[in-house]
Amino acid sequence: MQYFIETYGCQMNVADSELVAGLLNGAGHQPTARIDEAGIILLNTCSVREKAEETVLNRLSQLAALKKRDPGTLIGVLGCTAKNLAESLLESMPFVDLVLGPDSYRRLPQIINERQTSNVHPVDTKLSRIELYEDLYPSRAASVNAWISIMRGCNKFCTFCVVPFTRGRERSRALAGIVEEARSAVGQGFQEITLLGQNVNSYRSGTDGFAQLLAAVAAVPGVRRLRFISPHPSDMGEDVLAVMAAHYNICKSIHLPLQAGADRVLRRMNRTYTKQEYLQLAARIREVLPGCTLSTDIIVGFPGETEAEFGETLEVMRQVQFDSAFTFKYSPRPGTKATEYHDPVNDAVKQARLDRLITLQKPISLRRNQQLIGSTVEVLIEKESKKSPQQWAGRTDSNKWVVFDKEWSQPGEFVNVHVDGSFGIALQGHLNSDLEALNAVA
Ligand code: 5AD
Ligand code: SF4
Repeated sequence: MQYFIETYGCQMNVADSELVAGLLNGAGHQPTARIDEAGIILLNTCSVREKAEETVLNRLSQLAALKKRDPGTLIGVLGCTAKNLAESLLESMPFVDLVLGPDSYRRLPQIINERQTSNVHPVDTKLSRIELYEDLYPSRAASVNAWISIMRGCNKFCTFCVVPFTRGRERSRALAGIVEEARSAVGQGFQEITLLGQNVNSYRSGTDGFAQLLAAVAAVPGVRRLRFISPHPSDMGEDVLAVMAAHYNICKSIHLPLQAGADRVLRRMNRTYTKQEYLQLAARIREVLPGCTLSTDIIVGFPGETEAEFGETLEVMRQVQFDSAFTFKYSPRPGTKATEYHDPVNDAVKQARLDRLITLQKPISLRRNQQLIGSTVEVLIEKESKKSPQQWAGRTDSNKWVVFDKEWSQPGEFVNVHVDGSFGIALQGHLNSDLEALNAVA
């Protein structure tokens, strides 16, 4: 049968969809880019905020019409919403054929077969303490970057977060298997590897921690760029920074979720660091890794967040000068600790705080990009620019998007680009033709 997977949410889901595609290919199914041709439609879903879940439910309502037209099409819900809503999803969406949580994908080919010959709608959302899908081969999208999932689950239990409930306990893959997967990705032509985990730097396998893993993957011949998301500030040790400094191919760019600036809020969020510790870490990163860019996640309107506490978040943002920030209004997730906290912040206040945060960050991001105007940056070309078919888009080591005229260059090449300007979140430049020979040298 032909299958179509639609992916929502984080990069972990992107990687999981590639795993599922690999599994389905192995069972003799084929991918299709056209949903109307598919005999199996799978939504790999996200529950991190209420809106993400709503998006999935709206999409499913649309698919109800398709199912009516063609009752033979199998519709499956995978991922975090599958786990979060489980049987209740079938009550509101009875046309859904199967519901599988993040640790049950191995059973998918078998469940598809079963569903075709039975009236039962299979639901399997059991979480596992051991499932790592280590022996499966993901079917990767053609790109310069290969996602490699190194650990699953999360033990941190931030009080706002549903992930520990939808993805279960932390478990890490063995180092050797990850290194082997990196080697094989390079063999398939991928030049950039991004290590993934809900809490990527709490990786631990035997005596190997995240620093040892980073060093081992960086040493794989042909890994031109190595990235990782998302780390937790409390697990960002000196050993990791030292390994980053020692390897030219580990990108100097760290996504370091702050969430909030005030100690009382951080404590109530169970983030396990203080404002001071976070600021010291940011300073230390810049000391050990000069030029390293920093991005972050912020939640505004956590229950009971006062005006003064929100002001502290703004203050940390001013001090750190992040290159970019993903900003969210707190969204209560049923079953999480934070829903028990009193004094919810009303939506108008949350929205106003979000607007102020965005207004503060926008010129900071712009200024940090403008600092690169006039310089030449090395860009790995990824894809055609959305703005123009005459232009490529690629990223710098520091994770900034750069758009420039294609001229002689091709995706997958490293090129030197002279930065002429900055617009929105990206940089605009032109190929530095003197350095055309760069690829030959590198
Ligand atoms: N409400 C709002 N934002 C949330 N995030 C996680 N849970 C919630 C929630 N309940 C944000 C955090 C996290 C990012 C992936 O999503 O900032 O880092
Ligand atoms: Fe959620 Fe916190 Fe775990 Fe990140 S570290 S997945 S925010 S519980």
